[in-house]
Amino acid sequence: MAEDEYRFSANGELHCPYGRCDGSGWILNEENDGVVECECRQQRLARARVSGINSVIPKKFRGVSFDRPPVTDMDPNAVQTVRDWIGHLGNNLDQGRGLWLMGDTGTGKTTLAMLVSKEALKQNRTVAIYSMPSLLTRIRATYGAEAGEESYAEFFERLCEVDLLHIDDLGAEKQTEWVLEQLYSLINERYEREKSIVVTTNLTQDQLEQQIGPRTVSRLVEMCGESMIPMFGEDARHKPQLRDL
Ligand SMILES: Nc1ncnc2c1ncn2[C@@H]1O[C@H](COP(=O)(O)OP(=O)(O)O)[C@@H](O)[C@H]1O
Ligand SMILES: [Mg+2]
Ligand SMILES: [Zn+2]
Repeated sequence: MAEDEYRFSANGELHCPYGRCDGSGWILNEENDGVVECECRQQRLARARVSGINSVIPKKFRGVSFDRPPVTDMDPNAVQTVRDWIGHLGNNLDQGRGLWLMGDTGTGKTTLAMLVSKEALKQNRTVAIYSMPSLLTRIRATYGAEAGEESYAEFFERLCEVDLLHIDDLGAEKQTEWVLEQLYSLINERYEREKSIVVTTNLTQDQLEQQIGPRTVSRLVEMCGESMIPMFGEDARHKPQLRDL
């Protein structure tokens, strides 16, 4: 059992999400001195395989919670839809159902999406969290990989295999043929593998089609189905009195 098998637990500590083993992934049988594999072990291995993927909630959003501002100040319909989605998180991830938050800047889309990723990590799922521009930068970096370094194909495969792919600010990236192709292959691959995705975007569906192409958007629409959450309204960044209450 190599130490690095456990490195990627959600909170960075060794613990068993099922409370069945000591966090090592193995359950000791005192009677015959044998060991059996705990359910958590395969999950930890899967997590280790997706190393190199960003699974860290940005500091600003680490404390997000349904019980506190700003979430308590947000559109109650949007918040309820996210709460319900999280209530069925395991099923949603297993069935590749996604969540799409669209609307104006400063309405809480990123905050709500972080609640989803936070819960997925808490439930020991693998999550990749990227803003669209940072994801593209990360993909570009794999292109110049030296021998022994991670190749594009490896990174792409990891992005396709995580339980949840979280893309913030879809459509904010500069569009080139290359960008559109990267995005399409990623979304299409996850669509075919029935893997879940959470996206936020400032664009409407029509605008997004113009920006990233109708093929990619139609996959997203199908994946997110009922869970396309409109969040329009004033920019809360310009309403400090609300935020500071
Ligand atoms: N409805 C709201 N009421 C008060 N503050 C909010 C509200 N929505 C968002 N905020 C705050 O505004 C800022 C932007 O939120 P964010 O989730 O990044 O919005 P978006 O992704 O929609 O641009 C954050 O500081 C957040 O805490
Ligand atoms: Mg945002
Ligand atoms: Zn265990």
